[in-house]
Amino acid sequence: MDKIIINGGKTQLKGEVVIEGAKNAVLPLLAATILPEEGVTKLTNVPILSDVFTMNNVVGGLDIKVDFDQEQNTVIVDAQGQILDEAPYEYVSKMRASIVVLGPILARNGHAKVSMPGGCTIGSRPIDLHLKGLEAMGAQITQIGGDITATAEKLKGTTIYMDFPSVGATQNLMMAATLAEGVTTIENAAREPEIVDLALLLNKMGADVKGAGTETLTITGVDKLHGAEHAVVQDRIEAGTFMVAAAMTSGDVLIKDAVWEHNRPLISKLMEMGVEVTDETAGIRVKADTSKLKPVTVKTLPHPGFPTDMQAQFTALMAVVKGESTMIETVFENRFQHLEEMRRMGLHSEILRDTAMIHGGSDLQGAPVMSTDLRASAALILTGMVANGTTTVGKLTHLDRGYYKFHEKLAALGADIERVSGE
Ligand code: EPU
Repeated sequence: MDKIIINGGKTQLKGEVVIEGAKNAVLPLLAATILPEEGVTKLTNVPILSDVFTMNNVVGGLDIKVDFDQEQNTVIVDAQGQILDEAPYEYVSKMRASIVVLGPILARNGHAKVSMPGGCTIGSRPIDLHLKGLEAMGAQITQIGGDITATAEKLKGTTIYMDFPSVGATQNLMMAATLAEGVTTIENAAREPEIVDLALLLNKMGADVKGAGTETLTITGVDKLHGAEHAVVQDRIEAGTFMVAAAMTSGDVLIKDAVWEHNRPLISKLMEMGVEVTDETAGIRVKADTSKLKPVTVKTLPHPGFPTDMQAQFTALMAVVKGESTMIETVFENRFQHLEEMRRMGLHSEILRDTAMIHGGSDLQGAPVMSTDLRASAALILTGMVANGTTTVGKLTHLDRGYYKFHEKLAALGADIERVSGE
């Protein structure tokens, strides 16, 4: 098993970093490539991540031609002709996000069978909102033997109110609605930049999606969609991770081409702490002096609130800021496992249900730690840079799902970090 080894304590990140296309945008975009009966779809700025390979396998498993050119960061998908309607457990079980193929397969074929996604360490993650929405559009849904089967000769437009603005459910229903009869309105829809990116591709394919980025989406169904070309939006979470890395090492880093508006909730908290964040022509610059930073309270919320996907990394920053900071995690019920690992490095924190109190500013010591999920792995690596001595981070399969060459990018900014293959 590979490990990342960090010699920390004196790191001050300096320089510029380039950010990839967003994992959480490209996965639903790949699901959308199932929809067009005519032409091919070309996605550019595709990040080289294990989750992308998994989604390519899910789509390819439907008898769809998928070509990933890693040199060019492009994926070309040809879904013309008859496609299959079953996404097997073998692939779906590897990645929860593959449930977003349910809506497109159903809309295209009138029938879909997708394995129920399995358990998840960060919380229970049910898919009731996906299924309720499809049922409201006229689908018959059954769950037998771990499979979800959905049938609807033609989905029908309707008004769906979502109890919670689920990102995945909004994407699934939005894609299904593009080929439904009539108008579908999704109220209390998710507003993440990745939703906007999906709507952009769908509209290029000939769909009629309005309101993406607001809480009400209106989708007028069309008879068929065609292939299109689209560049994946930048990964705001990767960008945010480097912003936090710069701040917690008293660094000075330009995050190239980062989008201010997409990172607004994070930037506002960094500024409240005393971090200098500036919007430059070339990107966002983050500069800090950790001895002058103040503790803050942060609560994760659906966009445009503070992203749960930045929570773990932000707690690593809280760990170096003198005083008591508070992190409230409202999106997932079990997303503080990184704090238990950071305790091995000397961090004092207390967790009570959805709230973690972080007593920051004391010296941290390097230690062997294990990633517990994707964002936890990034948070532990960042903590390793400020802890005195050597930290080794294991279980990098989590990291590889969402960060491309993370250690190389940190090393180029001045971190003493390497990745080694090991038993
Ligand atoms: N939820 C339900 N019922 C549903 C769907 C969701 O109760 O039918 C609940 C979940 O249990 C959770 C909350 O709603 O408590 C949020 O779930 P959501 O559906 O919004 O999340 P997701 O679509 O499963 C995406 C990202 C996650 C990110 C969340 C929240 C992708 C591929 N994944 O997941 O990304 O944390 O939105 O922003 O887009 C990550 O990148 O590390 C990651 C976990």
